[in-house]
Amino acid sequence: MRKSRQIILGIESSCDETSAAVVSVNCQLSTVNCFEILSNIVLSQIDIHKKYGGVVPEVAARQHVKNILPVIQGALDEAKVSEKDIDAIAITQGPGLITSLMVGVETARTLAYVWDKPCVPVNHIKAHVYAAWLSSNAHNSPHSPLSLRGEEKIDRVPPLKVRGGQEELLSELIKFPILALVVSGGHTELLFMKNEKSFKKIGQTLDDAAGEAFDKVAKILDLGYPGGPIISKLAETGNPQAFAFPRGMMKSPDFNFSFSGLKTAVLYAVQGIQKQKHKKFQVSSFKFQENVAASFQQAATDVLVYKTIKAAQQYKIKTLIMGGGVAANKLLRETMRTEAEKIHIPFIVPEIKLCTDNAAPIAVAGYFGKVMPWQKIEADSGLEIK
Ligand code: KG4
Ligand code: ZN
Repeated sequence: MRKSRQIILGIESSCDETSAAVVSVNCQLSTVNCFEILSNIVLSQIDIHKKYGGVVPEVAARQHVKNILPVIQGALDEAKVSEKDIDAIAITQGPGLITSLMVGVETARTLAYVWDKPCVPVNHIKAHVYAAWLSSNAHNSPHSPLSLRGEEKIDRVPPLKVRGGQEELLSELIKFPILALVVSGGHTELLFMKNEKSFKKIGQTLDDAAGEAFDKVAKILDLGYPGGPIISKLAETGNPQAFAFPRGMMKSPDFNFSFSGLKTAVLYAVQGIQKQKHKKFQVSSFKFQENVAASFQQAATDVLVYKTIKAAQQYKIKTLIMGGGVAANKLLRETMRTEAEKIHIPFIVPEIKLCTDNAAPIAVAGYFGKVMPWQKIEADSGLEIK
């Protein structure tokens, strides 16, 4: 898309969050600091899926159908814009759950047709990377991103602070080439970008995604869904050295990952304790859960950070970006920042609300993407990075 000032409506429905955002784009001079979030509504279905221990696709799609139009209307109202002001619609095309994706795509196609607007299909994984372009806006903008979980609005995003307590516009640090680690419930990928539109996958998980491993470990420990936030909370008071869990593929010469061995090691640790008769040794014992959570989190973080930093050095990158739901993890954020500082590479990780699924980065990805006739846009659950 060429115009320098645009208002983009982003729509996201790839998993269990129905989200719509209005982003204002003013990229006359450069693409740094030119995105402003006017609204960002996220309606999470977590409370509904929790009781099933994971996302039930059919249930998710029905919820998207019910909520997508009110969420879009909410985003337009919050941004104080109407359909006349919208220059383009950006929609998550994939990857994700096919029935969930279809709800968003059909809605975007219909709006594009009825409103006569250009429509841009977006890759969800790329959008997790583009969240970094929004990093400076939280304190720049009078409209900070608002989230809606159930009916509840979440507080303003606090100003970002970097080194020395000095506030800095983080996205001013975006320089190419970039290495981006996307860690989410369905993906763990290392992407090399030589400019804003070029993505080359240089590594990925060969089995479970990092987020999937957090979710499965929480399930093994009978802690509920989603596992990431529960495990990271428990880990705060656990001993990360209590269990020597494996660091899968840590020393392999490529940049791929494997988390299934780690997950199985946790399962064996739990089964081992189940065989003990003594009361002191029980899975539900808090210290056991805390220690497993801390040791697991440490093992997963060690591998993610080690391989990412190694790739950063090998590819001689100028900026390191991290995104996706697992990028909300405190230990991972802190460890990656420390290691990136050691090799003097600026590190950008968006605030937590922009790491997990939301539509604002979808709008940014739409800006960098290609308009397609709405008739040709189809949901694609296995959409690859190209
Ligand atoms: O990006 P996302 O919201 O959805 C997908 O595209 O998959 O990521 C969801 C994943 C879940 O697996 C969840 O457990 C994980 O992100 N997650 C976390 C944390 N918060 C969410 N993992 C580790 N630590 C967290 N604090
Ligand atoms: Zn995601």
